[in-house]
This record gives sequence, C-alpha cells and structure tokens, in this order.
Amino acid sequence: QTERSLVLVKPDGYRRGLTGEVLRRIEAKGYALTALAVLTPTREQLAAHYAEHEGKPFYEPLLEFMSSGPVAAAVVEGHGCIAGFRSLAGATDPTAAAPGTIRGDLGRDWGTSVQQNIVHGSDSPESAAREIDIWFPGLG
Ligand code: CMP
Repeated sequence: QTERSLVLVKPDGYRRGLTGEVLRRIEAKGYALTALAVLTPTREQLAAHYAEHEGKPFYEPLLEFMSSGPVAAAVVEGHGCIAGFRSLAGATDPTAAAPGTIRGDLGRDWGTSVQQNIVHGSDSPESAAREIDIWFPGLG
C-alpha cells in the first residue's frame, strides 16, 4: 500500500553533509521524494513534532539539539515506506543499528548518539499525516 512518511535529516546529519547520502538511499530503495526543504526548526515546530515526548528526561535536550541548525525535511512516498524507511534507518541507537543501515553505517558522536542519530522517520500513517502538516503546512 502506498504510504507517505515524514523524514528528517537531523542537525548532526545535515552538518556532516549526509543529506545527499540519506536521500540517495531513499531513492535507491524506490521511494519518491515528493517534498523537500532545508530549514532551521522553530521551537514551536519541534514542540508540535515531539509532543508525545513532552516531560521525558530527554525532551529539553532534544529540542535544544534539533533547533541547533538546519535540518533537511522530506516527504517520502512509496509502497510500505513507513516501515521501509525505519528499516533503512536502523535501530534508534547507532551502536545497536545493523551494518547496512543509515545509523549502523554512519552513526557517530559516541555517547550522544541516541539523540544525534542522523534521521527521523514517521512511525505510523497517523503520525506521518500529523508530522507532514507540521513541516509542510497544507500537505498533511
Ligand atoms: P526520533 O525518531 O526523532 O524520535 C524521538 C527522538 O528522541 C529519537 O528519534 C531520538 O533522537 C531521541 N531519543 C529517544 N530516546 C532517547 C533517549 N533515551 N535519550 C536521548 N534521546 C532519545
């Protein structure tokens, strides 16, 4: 089933020049990039995006990190692309992520890598619609 996912190349990935590599892997898998933008997120955008994590110990540091510089935001479209992109991304912690995945191959920043894990991808069709509307108003 054709789905959409909201993918972010987080500030660590953008800063390290990994945007092209992440987008290359998405296209190589056969998914389409139907919207693309580079922007420095506002606190409001991040509070909306990470609303489910409010109150958790990593919430404030996460907002601080995510607003520290530009991110690349993309709408990815394709058959099963929500699970498919999460599979491309690998486990949240790059130390645990399998070789061949974005985080397994490219994860760095030992110690902070659960936060600075290069990419974000939506975890359900409902999250995707909600997140796409935050990063690309009107498209969600
Ligand atoms: P993401 O998919 O963007 O969704 C929530 C983010 O919170 C996650 O990726 C990580 O960047 C971050 N995160 C999740 N768990 C932790 C944790 N235990 N410590 C720090 N950051 C975390």
